[in-house]
Amino acid sequence: MSENLGFVHRFIPGKGPLTLLLLHGTGGDENDLVGLGRALDRDANLLSPRGKVLENGMPRFFRRLAMGFFDVEDLVARTHELAGFVDKAVKAYSLHNGHMVAIGYSNGANIAASMLLLRPEVLSGAALLHAMPPFQPESVPDLSGKPVLLTAGRHDSMVPGDRAEQLAQIYRRAGAQVTLEWMPGSHELTQREVQAATAWLDGIQEKLATS
Ligand code: MLT
Repeated sequence: MSENLGFVHRFIPGKGPLTLLLLHGTGGDENDLVGLGRALDRDANLLSPRGKVLENGMPRFFRRLAMGFFDVEDLVARTHELAGFVDKAVKAYSLHNGHMVAIGYSNGANIAASMLLLRPEVLSGAALLHAMPPFQPESVPDLSGKPVLLTAGRHDSMVPGDRAEQLAQIYRRAGAQVTLEWMPGSHELTQREVQAATAWLDGIQEKLATS
């Protein structure tokens, strides 16, 4: 664990050049997704910050007003703060530019979704597991060709299906290469989803290598 660069975080070097930015869900921390990151790619560098907002003692990446209703002002500020952390980490750990892929679950997926819209230059791609539109963008950035995986639960009580579809539409409108994978269950992360994310990541590696 390190507290440098403005966020409590873990950095686990791999053989590179790919770095996975691991963003945990509400109540998680920087340790939560390390196993998932390693399962997705045994060679990647893993960069895993802890969200700075506490909701009843549970770490999150931004404030919410109620379940599913976000404090957008806070979300925007925290998105830029997190993007700044990633930039600093790229320099501090000598990471390869253009090979930063976010892997976010739930609240972590939502801030990654926001980062794609507000700071698209920071990410080469993103796997958003159980995300929803973080806000309604007035205009979309150019995400031409950026690979984005969305996984959604058919019976997700926190993210109704139309919200996952709305997010997919936003990214399609921005030109991203969107893959939307439906899971049979609810908000939990399943083995099937991990397999879908692994296959997706395998598929984009070649593209990243030439970018
Ligand atoms: C959020 O607040 O980001 C979503 O409702 C998911 C979560 O509960 O973390």
